[in-house]
Amino acid sequence: TWTPGNIIEDQVAAIRAQVGDKQVLCALSGGVDSAVAAALVQKAIGDQLTCVFVDHGLLRAGEAEQVEKDYVASTGVRLVVVDAEEQFLGHLKDVTDPEQKRKIIGREFIRTFEAAARDLDAERHIEFLVQGTLYPDVVESGGGTGTANIKSHHNVGGLPDDLQFALIEPLRTLFKDEVRAIGKELGLPDEIVQRHPFPGPGLAIRIIGAVDRERLDILRHADLIAREELTAAGLDRGVWQFPVVLLADVRSVGVQGDGRTYGHPVVLRPVSSEDAMTADWSRLPYDLIAKISNRITNEVREINRVVLDVTSKPPGTIEWE
Ligand code: XMP
Repeated sequence: TWTPGNIIEDQVAAIRAQVGDKQVLCALSGGVDSAVAAALVQKAIGDQLTCVFVDHGLLRAGEAEQVEKDYVASTGVRLVVVDAEEQFLGHLKDVTDPEQKRKIIGREFIRTFEAAARDLDAERHIEFLVQGTLYPDVVESGGGTGTANIKSHHNVGGLPDDLQFALIEPLRTLFKDEVRAIGKELGLPDEIVQRHPFPGPGLAIRIIGAVDRERLDILRHADLIAREELTAAGLDRGVWQFPVVLLADVRSVGVQGDGRTYGHPVVLRPVSSEDAMTADWSRLPYDLIAKISNRITNEVREINRVVLDVTSKPPGTIEWE
């Protein structure tokens, strides 16, 4: 019978057999899949694994710290953190086109990860790369594997030929809920294991308009409030994802205290879904939406209006960009 314990035991044995005494690399994204895949590999071969976390400065409040501190504390993994915020924001400056944003972020991610991989490879020759590929990813991409460059991660298009790794994909036969159960069994923090899906390009595609540090901070603050209240209402598992979107180039007139304001709107985009291919807007309780709206407009100075997205997918996508 399927238990998280059985799967872990089988995978640990398989990884040990595959890797032997060789060195292994894994890119952590902050998401569930790479976190659980790396934790499994860490359990199997410990010190032969090195993880790289490229902090592009586009994550939500607390997420980088969760990887750098809580994840390391609970797994004991060796982690190389690359602080690339300035680099990413520099390249994103004044860019408003969604596809352009994605391209830039993907390109910079590869550059940065590649440089880190090269440095590490010089120190300890790396032969394997861990990927958090799940069963639905395998089905979607037609099933091929073997020696490949990083591919299933949306943001990583491939490494150059002189950096070839064999793949370790310990989650290839699993679904998301199974991966979460394994992560829990491995002792990963709930904040990581229960995390909602989050796009690789991060908050850059939730700011409609150009991306800069100030706008990111505004969105991070509003997003944190929405997440806090969703959790307080006990509804984390009641939605698939809950993007908060900053309409950075839109302003509207409001009144706060005894003064006129001219601030930005944020959009609440809670959705229900099975697989993100289709989705419906979540019918969250009005009291919860009211609480989130009140808190955001009270606590985030730059935001004076909160709107709710009531569009299904199709025709809307989950993300606004
Ligand atoms: P859309 O917006 O297309 O999103 O309905 C479907 C799912 O994919 C996520 N998403 C991305 N994930 N890189 C990613 O890793 C991306 O560029 C990207 N764009 C969208 C989105 O959050 C949702 O779960």
